[in-house]
Amino acid sequence: MHYQLGNIKVCTEPDYAAMSRRAADIFADAMAQNPDAAFGFATGSTPLGLYKELIERNKRGEVDFSGITTFNLDEYYPIKGDNDQSYRYFMERNLFDHVNVRKESVNLLDGETADAMLECKAYEDRIRLTGGIYLQLLGIGANGHIGFNEPNDHFPGTTHLVELTESTVDANSRFFESREQVPKHALTMGIRTIMSAEKILLVVSGANKSRVLADMLLGHITPLVPASILQLHHNVVVVADDEAAQDIHGMLGRR
Ligand code: PGA
Repeated sequence: MHYQLGNIKVCTEPDYAAMSRRAADIFADAMAQNPDAAFGFATGSTPLGLYKELIERNKRGEVDFSGITTFNLDEYYPIKGDNDQSYRYFMERNLFDHVNVRKESVNLLDGETADAMLECKAYEDRIRLTGGIYLQLLGIGANGHIGFNEPNDHFPGTTHLVELTESTVDANSRFFESREQVPKHALTMGIRTIMSAEKILLVVSGANKSRVLADMLLGHITPLVPASILQLHHNVVVVADDEAAQDIHGMLGRR
């Protein structure tokens, strides 16, 4: 199913596997069109199926990572890169170790830095120097966050240090042995960083995202739902499974 909501194209697929294949088609097309560009990656459980698809397609020679530069959305702070909960570890294990990306072209925010402000500024400079991000992949939190840009009274600008909300610490504690071990801060691209990408691909799965997906697509643009800012971007594709799309199907009539 397809919906065109303002500037946002929404593709819905029956299940997670089909959603992942559709997202991989879009990602692979963008890589084929711009094999030397910068691509933005995301962590979380939603992109895992997409990453598996890209790994398989890379092994079959259909997708080439050798020319691209990568930037990740965010990282816990502080955290050691070899901690199995760091986003560096996640990306290496779930994508980068299995494809022909050049290690020197992989950029991740440094969760071990002594100077978070300097790290954030250097990251922005690196993005700018590569000519900007061509395609940014995003997930969305059930509270509407993108990256670690949590609901707020304003839209944060560039890459910055954030304190995680209680709900995000709770949501992420499932990956740690105890809640106490979840870092309470993170480094994240800001809303301006994300909005500067040429194209945005948002992947959404599961009934617990249905409400927020409808809010971000059909509600007011508000920093209380940070993803709602994407209504102002000129080139966004949302790929959702039917569970995540159930509210928009209900509100718009299944097409
Ligand atoms: P999830 O996280 O894919 O694990 O649901 C998405 C997010 O919080 O951005």
